[in-house]
Amino acid sequence: MKKYFIETFGCQMNEFDSERISWLLEKENYLSVQKPEEADVIIINTCAVREKAKNKLYGHIGNLRTLKTSNPDLMICIGGCSAQNLKEKILKDFPYVDIIFGTHNISQLPELILKRKSIKKSICEVKENGFDYVPGNFKNTFPFKAYVPVSHGCNNFCTYCIVPYVRGREISIKPAEIIEDIKRLADNGVVEIMLLGQNVNSYGKDFEKPYSFSELLAEVAKIKEIRRIRFMTSHPKDLSQNLIDVIAQNFNIMNHIHLPLQSGSNKILKLMNRNYTKEKYLEIIDNIKSKISDCSITTDIITGFPGEERNDFEHTLDVVNKVRFNRAFTFIYSKRDGTAACNMEDNISIKEKKEWFKELLVIQNKISLEENMKLVDRNYEVLVEGEGSKGLLEGRLENNCVVNFEGNKNLIGKFVNINIASAKSFYLKGKIIKINDDKKNHL
Ligand code: SAH
Ligand code: SF4
Ligand code: F3S
Repeated sequence: MKKYFIETFGCQMNEFDSERISWLLEKENYLSVQKPEEADVIIINTCAVREKAKNKLYGHIGNLRTLKTSNPDLMICIGGCSAQNLKEKILKDFPYVDIIFGTHNISQLPELILKRKSIKKSICEVKENGFDYVPGNFKNTFPFKAYVPVSHGCNNFCTYCIVPYVRGREISIKPAEIIEDIKRLADNGVVEIMLLGQNVNSYGKDFEKPYSFSELLAEVAKIKEIRRIRFMTSHPKDLSQNLIDVIAQNFNIMNHIHLPLQSGSNKILKLMNRNYTKEKYLEIIDNIKSKISDCSITTDIITGFPGEERNDFEHTLDVVNKVRFNRAFTFIYSKRDGTAACNMEDNISIKEKKEWFKELLVIQNKISLEENMKLVDRNYEVLVEGEGSKGLLEGRLENNCVVNFEGNKNLIGKFVNINIASAKSFYLKGKIIKINDDKKNHL
């Protein structure tokens, strides 16, 4: 039997694409292996969002050279966003790579592997646009939870971001196809789904008869076997009142919203082409907090965007202090060739950017800890998702907080009630007080 090894970098969308690749290869009787040295085919599904992602990839492909030398029949395939971005350049730097395939060429991978076997040359197959996903054609990694894409690509062109260039224009998947996917997953025992899109709030705007993300969510919430519905990513400019209402009205839509802020400065938000202001962002947060009880809010923030000054950074800190995010994913601005911000004047030294970045981290970590401390001594329903560190089990609260606790591995995929005993900035510790093995919500 032929064996494949797949490694995934980047976001949930890339993880989902790897599930598609697994499905396609397993249909051709490939077996998944956990070590690259055991594989006949190695696939690296790459990210391009920051320069670091590219450097990591280059180090990684370099490491595969020894494997290829000891096994010349080994097939090395590079896909994903850096493949889409760099194309033949990867082959120039690493001639022993066999196949480069773009983000719109995933379904061709099995035939490209066959083709590569019959010709002597490496292959680079990268379409500029398109959409080759067939609903249902993916292998979900966990039996109890699954990703379900609602759209592909992005039309926003935030000026720092490479995603619209490597993922193409936004294309929404038809509601009936999404619902069918979810029903099938539910029939197979899946209890949690994560709806995926670069900007889920603009879902359906490309249909002839417009259909909104909140309408879709309300439809999905009717599938009661799905006990936990999550989604990402929301863009503040398109987040509607209806969406907040639908979340508030449906107990199986989780009380967590990931709402990237990027910056708290109106000047920088404008330069970033984000299409909202600090005031608008704070208004949305107030609205969410008043309508959805105990809603956790997480975010993404970039520091050191071209033109950002101390005063702008302080606006970001102001939002961080006002909103009190449960968690923030923070990044130092990374220049991406081809994006609009590439040509913007950037006078701030990397040293200063790093200092601001550290300052932000200290403040945010303290807030994360204080927010998590509020959960201590309370009871929450948790879906047990796997094994964590030190032999403990790991699961998530409805609000997406991670909790570690003692318990038997056979609880994985089940719901338990947990009493929260202690908190750190990024996770909680707790104790099982009850195992919920029926199909009802218990708290
Ligand atoms: N579609 C999502 C996620 C995009 S990428 C959204 O709109 O939020 C995930 C995060 O990476 C972004 O939210 C942003 O904070 C960060 N990011 C994107 N491009 C970046 C760049 N050039 N430099 C630093 N961070 C970047
Ligand atoms: Fe990038 Fe902006 Fe699109 Fe998100 S919304 S993927 S940050 S361009
Ligand atoms: Fe995701 Fe990275 Fe591509 S964040 S969309 S894998 S550039």
